[in-house]
Amino acid sequence: MATTHREYIWEIPVRITHWINAISIVVLSVTGFYIGSPFWDSPNSDSVLPMALMRFIHFVAAYAFTASVLFRIYWMFVGNKYARWNQFIPLSTERIVNFIQCALFYGFMRKEIPHSPGHTAIAGVSYSIIFLIFLYEIASGFALLYVANGGGAIYNIGGGWLLRIMDLGTIRMLHHVFMWVIWIFVIIHVYISWHNDIIERNGLMSSIFSGYKFFGKHH
Ligand code: HEM
Ligand code: HEM
Repeated sequence: MATTHREYIWEIPVRITHWINAISIVVLSVTGFYIGSPFWDSPNSDSVLPMALMRFIHFVAAYAFTASVLFRIYWMFVGNKYARWNQFIPLSTERIVNFIQCALFYGFMRKEIPHSPGHTAIAGVSYSIIFLIFLYEIASGFALLYVANGGGAIYNIGGGWLLRIMDLGTIRMLHHVFMWVIWIFVIIHVYISWHNDIIERNGLMSSIFSGYKFFGKHH
């Protein structure tokens, strides 16, 4: 397909929050994994390092992640049409049809992926689920901080309230389990993004850096 024009799809806030999330998830996972099962210990038993350092880095990344996720949710209501909340939850006929066509495509029952300048409807739904998981990671992280800190208004608002719904063990276990769920998502996400870039030749991979996608004349 010959490319005839390019279109600006992902605004700067969408791209910046995407990469802050991706980088902080890597940092949170490495440090979180260490917090859960310290794979190397301090040679000096009087020293609190490296656990103190790992926890500190975990919390710095956690605040960056929290700010980025909340800002992206705000942007779902003020951003361009490709960034809006209705791209994540398919309620219109057009999005429902797009969802079904995508499902048929991924099920090898349709030759072409439906034209979707922004997210496909299936990608949108998968991102809604991943955003809910992000929100759980934030709330449960703050619940753990609330306990570790022995209280605190901000920690309470951030997630201390979860302790009235679930017990501490479950909160911590799910905080850990969702780390793995996020990584399963990431593997599939990068594979599908790459795959769709190759079959559509629309610059999807570079679009999450540049903001632009490329389309042929029949679109
Ligand atoms: C921890 C790692 C990652 C996470 C959690 C993640 C998550 C997400 C999310 C939530 C979106 C939707 C963006 C929005 O509307 O705000 C998205 C879009 C996108 N991401 Fe990632 N991502 C990760 C890593 C990557 C990597 C490494 C690449 C490629 C090198 C990538 C390529 C893309 C592309 C091309 C899109 C737009 C695709 C579309 O139309 O659906 N992502 N990602
Ligand atoms: C994608 C995001 C995150 C991932 C993947 C992640 C991962 C982890 C993991 C694997 C653990 C160890 C759990 C265990 O096995 O016991 C942990 C602990 C913890 N995380 Fe996170 N985390 C994330 C976000 C957050 C956020 C946003 C906060 C909020 C402040 C947070 C605060 C904590 C706290 C307080 C602990 C326990 C530390 C301790 O008691 O020493 N995490 N995290």
